[in-house]
Amino acid sequence: MKVKIRGKRKLEGTVHISGAKNSAVAIIPAAILADEDVIIRNIPNIDDVATLISIMKEMGYIIHFDNNILIIKAKKRVSYNVQSELVKRLRGSYYFMGALLGKIKKVKINNSGGCNLGSRPINYHLDNFQKLGAKLLLNDEEVYLKATKLKGTSIDLEFPSVGATINTMLAAVKASGITIINNAAIEPEIVDVGNFLVSMGAIVEGLGTPIIKITGVKRLHSTDYTIISDRIEAGTYLILGAMSNGNGVRVKNINPTFLISLTNLLEEIGCTVKIYENEIFIKREEQLKPFKVITKPYPGFPTDLGQPLSALMLTIEGTSIIKETIFSNRFSHINELKKMGANIEIVDNEIQITGTPNLHSAKLTAYDLRGAAALILGATLNKGITQIDNIETLLRGYEYPIEKLQKLGLNIILES
Ligand code: EPU
Repeated sequence: MKVKIRGKRKLEGTVHISGAKNSAVAIIPAAILADEDVIIRNIPNIDDVATLISIMKEMGYIIHFDNNILIIKAKKRVSYNVQSELVKRLRGSYYFMGALLGKIKKVKINNSGGCNLGSRPINYHLDNFQKLGAKLLLNDEEVYLKATKLKGTSIDLEFPSVGATINTMLAAVKASGITIINNAAIEPEIVDVGNFLVSMGAIVEGLGTPIIKITGVKRLHSTDYTIISDRIEAGTYLILGAMSNGNGVRVKNINPTFLISLTNLLEEIGCTVKIYENEIFIKREEQLKPFKVITKPYPGFPTDLGQPLSALMLTIEGTSIIKETIFSNRFSHINELKKMGANIEIVDNEIQITGTPNLHSAKLTAYDLRGAAALILGATLNKGITQIDNIETLLRGYEYPIEKLQKLGLNIILES
């Protein structure tokens, strides 16, 4: 699938932010831990969610998904073997490891896929499962973990990994005794997953701090839980607002505290930013200042907004820099933006971008989710037509992006 975009429009208006992808992809597998039916609300209708639902249906679960409400019926006999080839499609499928290990002490699953952002090992996840008492059998294709008993322990994470923190929580909630995760990640999605587990009867303390304490329980019950909204989706539209010459973009249904690193930055470089209880308004002012940003774990500047931010840098006179410190290669969009005449250099882990007054038409390819978003933002700067192929990558993680962009006034069409 591809999109064609004719840019140079005044983009303005309101965007309603959907449920958080990175909460949803963890909370759906986590629902396996319950012994009763689970209802989860605000689940975004995105391809990664559709893939997880398909995997669970292949595992024999009865699932209803309608109007952003997901109902997962509990299952008496849960198989440890996740044979589905679909797990290779998304990173979040590795949460079946923690969930099944926690539930039935055994899991066999294909290696998970996801965006290619350089090397993405899962050694911390596997080390932690073993510290909890699991035995690991591994080959190039699959992971097999088995325990007679999981026992709480103290775990020091070398790096506050989002995935390893969540997977460790999932494996530990039904382990015997107390598990402490030191140097835990504190992203809002981790707090969300933790709150979801608590709503099912788990005992998880210290969420949102670097020390998470989990006291194992025997059983998890039903819940009716609403997940948080997507700060990265909101951030992407705020960056779009900062790039356009319209009367401003308002993102609604988002907790502004999740985005302080971005809103502070946009204000510092000269945008008008207004923060309300559940919404943020942004308006570009004439001259924005060039800037440097370094991606960091939360509450630092999120790596997931680095690629979209590079499109904003194209509109600013002078040289701006993004230093990527989380992933080894989050630069797949750079060569594509260059095809439109963008002036960009990659030096080690830094992207250096010098603003260009005009970009020209080109045929681009999206290689990963946030890179796809960056290309769309870049295309809004070209008054001719930009074609972006492989737009499936965008649909993995943004809900109704074409409709939302059209509502803001962008001339964008989706073609098969
Ligand atoms: N790492 C290891 N070993 C591990 C785990 C991580 O070396 O066992 C390294 C990674 O290679 C990476 C760094 O630690 O260099 C951070 O990885 P982390 O585990 O924090 O990230 P993740 O769980 O793989 C999640 C999100 C990403 C988001 C990052 C950082 C999901 C499904 N993915 O990835 O989201 O960028 O946290 O916030 O939640 C996206 O939405 O576009 C996306 C890539």
